[in-house]
Amino acid sequence: MIPSKKLSPNILLLLCVCGFSLSVRGQQSTKLPQLGKSSVKEVIAAMTLEEKASLVVGGGLNIPPAMRKNKMFAGMVAQPGTLAANTVNPVPGTAGNTIAIPRLGIPCIVVNDGPAGLRMIGGFGGQKYECTAFPVGTLLASSWDKDLIFKTGQAYGNDVLEYGVDILLAPGMNIQRNPLCGRNFEYYSEDPLLSGTIAAAMVNGIQSQGVGVSIKHFAANNQETDRQTVNTIVSQRALREIYLEGFRVASRESHPWTVMSSYNLLNGKYTSENYDLLTTVLRKEWGYNGLVMSDWGAGKDAVAQMKAGNDLLMPGPNQVNIIIQAVKNGKLDEKVLDRNVEDILNLIVKTPRFKNYKYSNKPNTVANAAMSRKAATEGMILLKNSDSALPFAEKIKSVALFGNTSYQAYIGGSGSGYVAVAYSVNLIDGLKNAGYVTDESLKEKYKTYMTENAPKGGDMIANIMGGKKRAPEMPVTDSLAEEMAGKYDIAIFTVGRNSGEGEDRKLDNDFNLSNSETASINTICKAFHAKGKKVIAVLNIGGVIETASWRSKPDAILLAWQPGLEAGNAIADLLSGKVNPSGKLAQTFPVSYADVPSVKNFPGIEVKGDSTIKRKVVYEEGIYVGYRYYNTFKVKPAYEFGYGLSYTNFTYSNLKLSSTLFTGKIAMSVDVKNTGKIAGKEVVQVYLKAPKGDLDKPAEELKGFAKTGLLKPGELQTLTFTINAKDLASFNTVQSAWVADPGRYEIKIGASIEDIKQTMSFTLNKRTIVEKVTRVLMPPIAVAELKNRNQE
Ligand code: BGC
Repeated sequence: MIPSKKLSPNILLLLCVCGFSLSVRGQQSTKLPQLGKSSVKEVIAAMTLEEKASLVVGGGLNIPPAMRKNKMFAGMVAQPGTLAANTVNPVPGTAGNTIAIPRLGIPCIVVNDGPAGLRMIGGFGGQKYECTAFPVGTLLASSWDKDLIFKTGQAYGNDVLEYGVDILLAPGMNIQRNPLCGRNFEYYSEDPLLSGTIAAAMVNGIQSQGVGVSIKHFAANNQETDRQTVNTIVSQRALREIYLEGFRVASRESHPWTVMSSYNLLNGKYTSENYDLLTTVLRKEWGYNGLVMSDWGAGKDAVAQMKAGNDLLMPGPNQVNIIIQAVKNGKLDEKVLDRNVEDILNLIVKTPRFKNYKYSNKPNTVANAAMSRKAATEGMILLKNSDSALPFAEKIKSVALFGNTSYQAYIGGSGSGYVAVAYSVNLIDGLKNAGYVTDESLKEKYKTYMTENAPKGGDMIANIMGGKKRAPEMPVTDSLAEEMAGKYDIAIFTVGRNSGEGEDRKLDNDFNLSNSETASINTICKAFHAKGKKVIAVLNIGGVIETASWRSKPDAILLAWQPGLEAGNAIADLLSGKVNPSGKLAQTFPVSYADVPSVKNFPGIEVKGDSTIKRKVVYEEGIYVGYRYYNTFKVKPAYEFGYGLSYTNFTYSNLKLSSTLFTGKIAMSVDVKNTGKIAGKEVVQVYLKAPKGDLDKPAEELKGFAKTGLLKPGELQTLTFTINAKDLASFNTVQSAWVADPGRYEIKIGASIEDIKQTMSFTLNKRTIVEKVTRVLMPPIAVAELKNRNQE
């Protein structure tokens, strides 16, 4: 078990620090079955009980001998003489490995984080890593571009392959239920279709390189507070429609090699011990045939995990004897163990390590960084652009650059989402590379301030996992702002935010701007506006922040997210107009935190006197997550789902449906034309409004999306979409089925959920049961869910 909330992500970096490579093939015996040459079943038949039990458990923490006796690592360190101790992880700095059984030709395979680039921890094994930091998940989803994400995945897969990793522990794809979740930056969206589709594109791209992934964290892992002891209570409908749906889409469209179960309990059971989740739904209903591994130290009962179909327990190895004993005393049927072993062996034979791939430790760094920069520019979002403040006009030659993160960008988040990055480009350097003049004395002022005000000490491990706390925002004085306004053509103020696993974000000085940030924005705007000069705010953040109270001040706001190692260059590409912004929000920016639908139920309440469950969170908002809530209940957000500006304009016309009567599917097409003066891309969104029926319905739901190509001024593209029966259906808990109600369905094609450009309708004549599913995953108590009583 991971001993403490704070340590859990951190311990992981200490895994696997040895650097010897194991040649299992050299030790083959000709008499014994050999993996790859004999059938998997024959190999299993030749395995001892100890070998089987050791294979379903990870190799443990591979930490230096001096650290092994530390009580904190009890149960996570291989004991001498065991198979785990005999296995040496060949890739230093990785998160874990399976054990090797050389006599049967079974090599160990190596798994490693994470969602935005490889988190190799250098220094332990002597290997220097220069990994590509890709933009965080939230930025990638904001591109709404499957092809782009596929190509980004290909580049990422190259890093994974060439650094000797077999399985990447990513993508993270939990629903962004609440803006304060500390890991939202790793995740994609508040919408399951967008999350699932983007995840699938990423998985297909990565796996095209011959390495595997682990989509995570399955499921309903939407907060970090007490993440290993929180009981998430959620209705079957909200589970099916919101929290499982993205995983269903991703598993159907991309066949990830592995799925990672989550830390939390779901409706009273650890997900890793939940047969209904991992077997009934994932495997039987969805047809998933890959491996399931646990999150690091998740769950309590190894035998229940085995029975549930959680094939591999990470990081191990303390469960080996428990499993052996359970088989011996009849508590665990050996057939169940064999089934899990089979899943692991079927995975191993697909890996580069099994195929003896000679990795180079030299990925295509230059090409991968170029891909990272391109992806970053396609997912940044222009939130405001008064009086065409952006792109910089011809006459703008010099920039006064304010904000700590202008000089020290957050290129990604921390924890297992952190990247052992090759280098990173700050905004100051990006602007210089783009030919703009900046102020050296201002840079020095910021650097000195940040050094002098950096919090001292801190958690050693957090410090090397990107979680090192930084100085608060440097206050900008009137005189400094006025001096700069006298010298420079335009001002930029960056707002920076970082977060990571193990901790949720705070409301003050995080979701809400700090007083110093607000004061600085006011001061800079006053000084520059007095001279008729503009101010641009750049948001270098991983999750949603409050914008409504200050957004009237700057002339333009660019949401740059955490853009990966080419951060500064990518932001400069958009500011200068080299690239026209085309990202759109994959999550709602509310006016205030109080407007968030889960506000009363995040992060839940403490439970006293229970050794397993320390916190309970009830998802009372039900299906009304994100825009499903804001739109249905007419709560006006600051920036709505799907929102994003461009330097050009688009018109939508000519929406056509294949029929106005639904008989199995409806095809549709719409024309999108660039009516502005420069080339640009548009994200086109398809929403569906269902008729009033048996169930409560959100006002609209996203059912499809596409991004145009780069349209020249005057150029038109026809986009096509298909709506299937499942798209019409909601989950009816009483019937345990996806049911489509009869009546008139409205198709709404828009540039955002509020900016609907074309509508048409079609009719479904009779109530249709689209799919019946097993009645499982019931909440232990009735959830008093939010209802939309005013539904038309
Ligand atoms: C995180 C996972 C990660 C694992 C291995 C856990 O703490 O929750 O996302 O893959 O560690 O590092």
